[in-house]
Amino acid sequence: MTVVALDKFLAELDQLTAAAVTAFQAASDTQILEAARVEFLGAKSGRLKTAQKGLGQVDKSDKPAAGKRFNQAKQDVEAAYEAAKEKLATGQVTQQAAAFDPTEPGRRQRLGHVHPVSQTIEELKDIFARLGFNVAEGPEIEDEWHNFEALNIPGSHPARDPLDNFYLATAGRSAADKQLLLRSQTSTVQIRVMEDTKPPVRIVSLGRVYRPDTADATHYPMFHQIEGLMIDRHVTMADLKSVLRMFCSSYLGEDVHVRFRPSFFPFTEPSVEVDMAWHGGWIEMGGAGMVDPNVLRAVGYDPEEVIGFAFGLGVERLCARRHGIKDIREFFKNDVRFLQQF
Ligand code: FA5
Repeated sequence: MTVVALDKFLAELDQLTAAAVTAFQAASDTQILEAARVEFLGAKSGRLKTAQKGLGQVDKSDKPAAGKRFNQAKQDVEAAYEAAKEKLATGQVTQQAAAFDPTEPGRRQRLGHVHPVSQTIEELKDIFARLGFNVAEGPEIEDEWHNFEALNIPGSHPARDPLDNFYLATAGRSAADKQLLLRSQTSTVQIRVMEDTKPPVRIVSLGRVYRPDTADATHYPMFHQIEGLMIDRHVTMADLKSVLRMFCSSYLGEDVHVRFRPSFFPFTEPSVEVDMAWHGGWIEMGGAGMVDPNVLRAVGYDPEEVIGFAFGLGVERLCARRHGIKDIREFFKNDVRFLQQF
């Protein structure tokens, strides 16, 4: 019996595989494909069958390698055949579908729409635009200066605890680099705007903030806030209360109740919590107060010259109350049956 060298066997196998793949891919109808199948994969005298017989002529020590490559080649050829068969089948379906039937009634397209939280954001911007507030933006990844220090929150303050914030990994960063975190409040934008603008200032900023809070009916680890800031020569707490009351009645209706409770924020003095009641019990919507002189100094303003108020409200809570939603987690489940109601 003549012995066939492994190299020769493998080279022939490669040629056979390439020829089969080309033939299958080129088949333009099922008859041509079937003829190609018989030629290469035919059970009795297909070319692959013949190659398999050639395996017996390979030297004994080369047989394992030759057998392995033969199996691989067979799999490749079979896969190319299946792919070509599939292509012709779907091609036929597409051709049928392409036949246009002008008598068929039209099919209504299902249009998506804007997420309720995004709708709320647009509405809040509109209301504050009517009250004379411009929209400002700030980054979601912040440094400690804008998230804490400039807001009068020193290094020792518990609000900076790593357990209460999403600090970003420091690998590969030197001690001199700024520590970064996902902003925990939109009050950061107050600082960025004042650093870049001379007073007077009258802005709102809307965006995402992040806190490692456990999700429940009124909390989520990622949520949105609307921040407001007004700085001028003669701004008072009465202005703050009037603006917030006007906002609440525009957003919820004239029958809304607003309550200010004394509170503490390092960046406002005095500070209040802002609660609202509308078609249900009281709910805390945010915090507010007169901007602390230390904050004004940190951005280079003179507290003897200018004064102002700031507020920060939770957008999910506002949106939930407006639509009678009992649990803000609904906003983030991406359940179309819920979302398409708004
Ligand atoms: C603040 O974030 C202050 N920056 C607000 C502020 C701005 C005070 C300017 C003074 C001046 P607070 O942590 O209370 O405050 O959050 C404000 C509002 O965000 C809350 O009242 C609530 O409506 C909303 N909120 C807070 N945590 C969550 C959460 N985990 N999920 C959803 N909403 C939240």
